[in-house]
Amino acid sequence: MTDNANPSGMTQAPSTIGTSAGYMPGFGNDFETEALPGALPQGQNSPQVCPYNLYAEQLSGTAFTAPRGENERTWCYRIQPSVKHTGRFKKLDVPYWKSAPHIIEDVLSLGQYRWSPVEHGQENLTFLTGMRTMTTAGDVNTQVGMAAHIYLITASMVDEYFYSADSELLIVPQEGRLRFCTEMGVIDLDPQEIAIIPRGMVFRVEVLEGPARGFVCENYGQVFTLPNRGPIGANCLANPRDFKTPVAAFEDRQADSRVVIKWCGQFHETFIDHSPLDVVAWHGNYAPFKYDLKTFSPVGAILFDHPDPSIFTVLTAPSGVEGTANIDFVLFRDRWNVAENTFRPPWYHKNIMSELMGNIYGIYDAKPEGFIPGGMSLHNMMLPHGPDRNAFEGASTTELKPQYLANTMSFMFETRFPQHLTEFAANEAPLQDDYIDCWSDLEKKFDGTIGNT
Ligand SMILES: [Fe+2]
Repeated sequence: MTDNANPSGMTQAPSTIGTSAGYMPGFGNDFETEALPGALPQGQNSPQVCPYNLYAEQLSGTAFTAPRGENERTWCYRIQPSVKHTGRFKKLDVPYWKSAPHIIEDVLSLGQYRWSPVEHGQENLTFLTGMRTMTTAGDVNTQVGMAAHIYLITASMVDEYFYSADSELLIVPQEGRLRFCTEMGVIDLDPQEIAIIPRGMVFRVEVLEGPARGFVCENYGQVFTLPNRGPIGANCLANPRDFKTPVAAFEDRQADSRVVIKWCGQFHETFIDHSPLDVVAWHGNYAPFKYDLKTFSPVGAILFDHPDPSIFTVLTAPSGVEGTANIDFVLFRDRWNVAENTFRPPWYHKNIMSELMGNIYGIYDAKPEGFIPGGMSLHNMMLPHGPDRNAFEGASTTELKPQYLANTMSFMFETRFPQHLTEFAANEAPLQDDYIDCWSDLEKKFDGTIGNT
């Protein structure tokens, strides 16, 4: 483990006023940062000769002609251009990382499912080999939909780098601490934080404290952004200043290295003789970031009724149909319940959207038992779900005093596309066969003779 001042031997820009150590605050800002003084050209992007004889290179996350408010690109000033960071490609087998469409004939995706946490094995696993796809949705080739993964990581990537041309990666750690050394800088990630690694960004993952387990939402579509707040106004939910983008950091290192690329659902490897993390300075708005989920300011019912869970959306990835997300990332954190004359947990419902949940820690109020930290559940398109019997009975009879929901943090990846189980999710992960029984002892309470009491 290395310290924050010199993460992984990378040369890092000094912290500046208004930044936490190694990070710049803000969501989607047009950042600029340099790890060596004067490395960033001013007033233009592409001078005839760049400072320090660096190469100028643009990384485009959106089409050149995307509307200005949605246009994302970053100018990098690097020791060698990216064409030097790949060679000829060879297909690589990464057997547990699947991409949509991935529909297995013998696997039943129709059903309400819940999994206990996948336990760590004896094998040393990296970010690449430790990824286990649970569900896929949409189509990676047409850039719609997503995949949900869990990761089990015990080993750092050494002289190995990765980028996904298919997706941006939303990482939700549940245990262990990871370091993401990216082209744009270094992100240290703890449980109760999330990180976004943009499509096409090269990185390696080191284990700061293991073993590490967590969840990944692989977004094939448009990038995650902050939801519009509508009448909520200018504040609350996820506030832009709480998003942290790393300052520039680079390494000038010769070493035989492997670069792995995920492209159209397939993995490829290529070999180079140096580190590709050689961006000395950059400016732009296409960059990785992290966010502390404990800074999410929940808004909810303060008199009666239970609002839709979308009220807790942290980030949303649009689908092109207004209000119908390719993915919503939704957070259920500790908060006050104060609604009067109200059944306070989530109501029973069926939904055109498909809901995959994960428990980061604690107890989820609609499922006090069985939904374990590290575990997941899936309520697929138009499948009914809701509180189990104990949650229903408790919430129907409890005295409705203000109640603090403590010791709880769960999330949801919600997509407009149905989610299909992988063979791993159906046959290898610890599926709780009795999950569906959590509703079996709900009683018929109807009595047509008692009237409206
Ligand atoms: Fe739901």
